[in-house]
Amino acid sequence: MAITVVSNPFRPGAGHMPPYLAGRDSEIEGFKDLLKQRVVVTNLILTGLRGVGKTVLLDTFRPLAINAKWLWAGTDLSESASINEEKIVVRLLTDLSALTSSFIIKSEVKAAFGFNTTQEIVNHFLDYETLSEIYKSIPGLVSDKLKTLLELVWSCIKQEGFHGIIFAYDEAQTMSDHAEKEQYPLSLLLDVFQSIQRKNVPFMMVLTGLPTLFPKLVEARTFTERMFTTMFLSRLNTKDSEEAILKPIQKAICPVRFTKNAIEEIIKCSGGYPYFIQFICKEAFDIYLQQMKISENPFIDYRKAIEDITRKLDIDFFAGRWARVTDRQRELLQVIASLPDSDEEFSFQEVVESAKSLPKPFSASHINQMLSTLTNSGLVYKNRHGRYSFAVPLLSQYIRRQQKETIRKKGQLELFPKQ
Ligand SMILES: Nc1ncnc2c1ncn2[C@@H]1O[C@H](COP(=O)(O)OP(=O)(O)O)[C@@H](O)[C@H]1O
Ligand SMILES: [Mg+2]
Repeated sequence: MAITVVSNPFRPGAGHMPPYLAGRDSEIEGFKDLLKQRVVVTNLILTGLRGVGKTVLLDTFRPLAINAKWLWAGTDLSESASINEEKIVVRLLTDLSALTSSFIIKSEVKAAFGFNTTQEIVNHFLDYETLSEIYKSIPGLVSDKLKTLLELVWSCIKQEGFHGIIFAYDEAQTMSDHAEKEQYPLSLLLDVFQSIQRKNVPFMMVLTGLPTLFPKLVEARTFTERMFTTMFLSRLNTKDSEEAILKPIQKAICPVRFTKNAIEEIIKCSGGYPYFIQFICKEAFDIYLQQMKISENPFIDYRKAIEDITRKLDIDFFAGRWARVTDRQRELLQVIASLPDSDEEFSFQEVVESAKSLPKPFSASHINQMLSTLTNSGLVYKNRHGRYSFAVPLLSQYIRRQQKETIRKKGQLELFPKQ
């Protein structure tokens, strides 16, 4: 039998561009509309659970923006929990200088901003050194200095034919104000952008993050409610999930074919969540390739295959998160997972009611406090209407599987007790 070398097209992994980006056409159109703004009145928040495809969509936006003559600056802010105001300044200057270092600062711009044109406080190029020199020489508070600097940068680059600059920050939910340290980096960023946008400097913010992001921004500055439009990325519907499964195989022109039943099963088990689709498809593809080595027309027991894959997914994706949860938190999470709508959302009151039936019940205040701890550890979040959801997709199903497994093991122990 001829051996064909077939590479697996699926890409499970944070930030890995999928072979086919399914079901995000309306978000892409929405972003193209934002690019038409000549005065920025609307910034963008891209939000959703982990693994839903925020990072790859942000990466998809980048070339669209560049083609539409916008400059693009940005980074992943996942390490920014300890960021302070000074670090935000360094961050902005670093991101900006990467774009502007080949642009020249003209003497009329210097003059317009009150710099002595004969005095060489800076060299001619808007590189990091020049930007920080200018920043230092501007009087006032950090926010005044930043605003003036950004305005000056725009004055230099607007003649180059660009519509503006997009500042794209991924994992932006990690940014926080720290009142106890008198550090307000998040508010600083929002104040500065709001102020320069009002002065017609077309610098647009695109922030990506978990669902805690938007409430966090509004808490820092209430005006953010009017400053941003939010795209909430959800799971893919059946048609889009099918495309996410089928198109990569068609594109790769390979001998692997998933049957109709297998596709239905993959959609069901993945819940339409993009990360899970990639994960399950990658594994299924590998199983198929293995079988092809044995037979030219492999038969796959897809139910058994899905069981094996789910076990692997539990270990790779969920187990680490579950291991960090205390016994008491597990009990509460099990109560939540057994609520009828726990896959969507649940209320504090529902949890309180249901927890009353436990052998060791929880008081309402204890539940309140535990929900807040679970929120901080990224397992649940509170939405704008005061209701809660799991912050990890399909967590409730995992918890129910764990419960079944515990009961099964317990049953075995009772049947075969250790002597
Ligand atoms: N629209 C989509 N269609 C198919 N696969 C996708 C889609 N969006 C994301 N993925 C896949 O899902 C996984 C998670 O994407 P990622 O952008 O890292 O999610 P997030 O940033 O929301 O945590 C990646 O493996 C990616 O290839
Ligand atoms: Mg991401």
